[in-house]
Amino acid sequence: MTEIEINGASPLFSTEGLQFQEFPSDFTKIRYYTLMLISSAPFCIRETNLLEQQVSELVKNGITHGNKNDPRKLLKIWYSFTHEAARLIVEDEGEGFNEIPEWNEFNKHRLEYLQERNNDKLMQYISFRSHGSDEKDGGNALFAALEYWNAGLVFNEKHNAVAAERLFLDQNEELRNFKPWDIDSDRPVLA
Ligand SMILES: Nc1ncnc2c1ncn2[C@@H]1O[C@H](COP(=O)(O)OP(=O)(O)O)[C@@H](O)[C@H]1O
Ligand SMILES: [Mg+2]
Repeated sequence: MTEIEINGASPLFSTEGLQFQEFPSDFTKIRYYTLMLISSAPFCIRETNLLEQQVSELVKNGITHGNKNDPRKLLKIWYSFTHEAARLIVEDEGEGFNEIPEWNEFNKHRLEYLQERNNDKLMQYISFRSHGSDEKDGGNALFAALEYWNAGLVFNEKHNAVAAERLFLDQNEELRNFKPWDIDSDRPVLA
């Protein structure tokens, strides 16, 4: 996937067959919540720590950017972790991530300059800042999220819920599908 999508009707938002948990928005408990979710994953999923990290970034965004660390606001999470796929839906009670088009534009430039090895330009694309960011926000977790959730990273139209899926492909298939720079297919892919 090369973009964060906006489509509340995406099949990634179907909650059928998913487990459900609801947490108060306590920043200090993000790792604990994440481990509770991840503990349902089959033990032999490859890269469990990477899965944990990616789940925690979406949980953290819901708690900090969405619910503004207000413990009265709840985070709803639907999830399923199997050998074939990891699925996650995180819904917060916030105003929503309203800068998704700007974020996609930013990410496109970032990848372009990375591909061109244009370090001067790249320096302007280190971290995505929005009106909701503060100095503690790294502003780059979603770049890796888009790469990790290889079957899609989708927000609903209110922008306060995100659905994500990662397919665990076999390694050869993974390599065949690996096109991080494929933002413009006319360009040569780096060797
Ligand atoms: N659930 C959300 N509600 C509102 N804004 C969000 C949400 N998730 C992400 N964002 C926006 O996306 C930006 C980028 O997120 P991210 O890459 O995780 O970086 P960071 O969280 O360090 O700022 C955030 O600064 C925020 O503006
Ligand atoms: Mg974040």
